[in-house]
Amino acid sequence: MPFRCDLIIRDATIIDGTGAPRFRGDVAVEGDRIRAVGDLSAAVGEQEVLAGGLALAPGFIDAHTHDDRAVLCGPECQRCKVSQGVTTVVVGNCGISLAPLRLARRPPPPLDLLGDESWYRLGSFAEYAEALAKRPSNVNTLAFCGHMSLRMEAMAGDVYRPANDREIAAMQARLREALEQGAAGFTTGLYYPPNAQAPTEEVIAVGEALREVGGIYMTHMRDEADGVLDSIREALRIGREIGGEARPVEVIISHHKCAMPENFGRSRETLALIDRLGQDQPVAFDVYPYPAGSTVLLPERLRQDVPVRITWSVPHPEQAGRDLDDIAREWGMTRRAAAEKLLPAGAIYFQMDEADVRRIMAHPRSMIGSDGIPHDAKPHPRLWGTFPRVLGHYVREVGLFSLETAVHKMTGRTAQVFGIPDRGVIRPGAFADLVLFDPARVIDRATYDDPTAPALGIERVWTNGVEVYSGGELTGAAPGRFIPNPRRSA
Ligand code: ZN
Ligand code: CU
Repeated sequence: MPFRCDLIIRDATIIDGTGAPRFRGDVAVEGDRIRAVGDLSAAVGEQEVLAGGLALAPGFIDAHTHDDRAVLCGPECQRCKVSQGVTTVVVGNCGISLAPLRLARRPPPPLDLLGDESWYRLGSFAEYAEALAKRPSNVNTLAFCGHMSLRMEAMAGDVYRPANDREIAAMQARLREALEQGAAGFTTGLYYPPNAQAPTEEVIAVGEALREVGGIYMTHMRDEADGVLDSIREALRIGREIGGEARPVEVIISHHKCAMPENFGRSRETLALIDRLGQDQPVAFDVYPYPAGSTVLLPERLRQDVPVRITWSVPHPEQAGRDLDDIAREWGMTRRAAAEKLLPAGAIYFQMDEADVRRIMAHPRSMIGSDGIPHDAKPHPRLWGTFPRVLGHYVREVGLFSLETAVHKMTGRTAQVFGIPDRGVIRPGAFADLVLFDPARVIDRATYDDPTAPALGIERVWTNGVEVYSGGELTGAAPGRFIPNPRRSA
């Protein structure tokens, strides 16, 4: 049928995000939606793009980010993501969310991953959504409400202890309000010293709001090392107890890993456990394609057999990018003492096994999430490299899985797990979030030494039908939207 529309991308290799085999065809866009897919030679586009056989996929969804603040400061702040083909980010992870929280003093780690107190100025989730509408990003945002942010408010900053009943009630009410105002769920970071003080019962009690309003429970688990199996059991128990055995709340395990040399290889056990428990309740996980992690610097948890590189330091910004061992040697002190002197600070920890990373990534329940930390002086390269690294290194060079599977783990699967409507797939009626890339050339270039080098092979990116990236440059357009809680019950 002949028709006119805003944009036609012609002669693309379409990888539709469902995991189905690629096919050659055209995609027509009208406004913010895909109008038609297939042989559209009879149709005419206001603008026509000749893809010449390059791959066209749904815009990538970054399942795990700390972009709460980055999405609020305009298109430039998301250059690292859009240059990878990302068009939607999930924020509020690891118990850390910008809203709802107002702060007068510097927050304890890890809340300062997002910045100092001057960034914590949003007293409600409604204010967060409003701020995004007023100054949109070039990516869409799905936002979670963080346990630690709730604790800071309810416990008046005194967070190195379990919450009492009154504080739990206050957190639960705040979470309920946040879910009603658009938060997609509740996240925890039980690994971190202040939140490690929270017993399982505290999390279940606050999480009650998820059953009432609807939402997902997502967690940076209490222990990703020796106690990883118990942590998985805890996370899934939380999902069951909140929702009830009949309707357990959906659980997402963040950046799944088996940390520390003595646990290398244990992803066989963790994945088997997740699969067994997953027969009776919904569970998924995200993973980043690197054998090193990154978070705040925690001197009390350093180990001689885990190399550490500094990503930022408030008192010693000049040490960002250097190995902690070199700094300690230069300063003539122990690693521990050098680490104390660098605080507050962030670090990269080389603490995983490549075989585990691959096994976890290849598992059918996985989604790709960068866990990039956007405000670090010398960030972990995952911030700029995650998606092209999966497509170029793990698909093309290693052959870990097919291109269709890789794209599915970045798009259709992710949209399905989070319940994001009409995204993550190329089909008529879906939002026109699209990325055109060269499968033969796409590759990450960010490294530990040069962590902000942009990827190669990502040619053009559209968010909601508007081009946001072309020929290696941002277009300056900011068509990103806030995606309200997809799991909210009527
Ligand atoms: Zn985390
Ligand atoms: Cu994280």
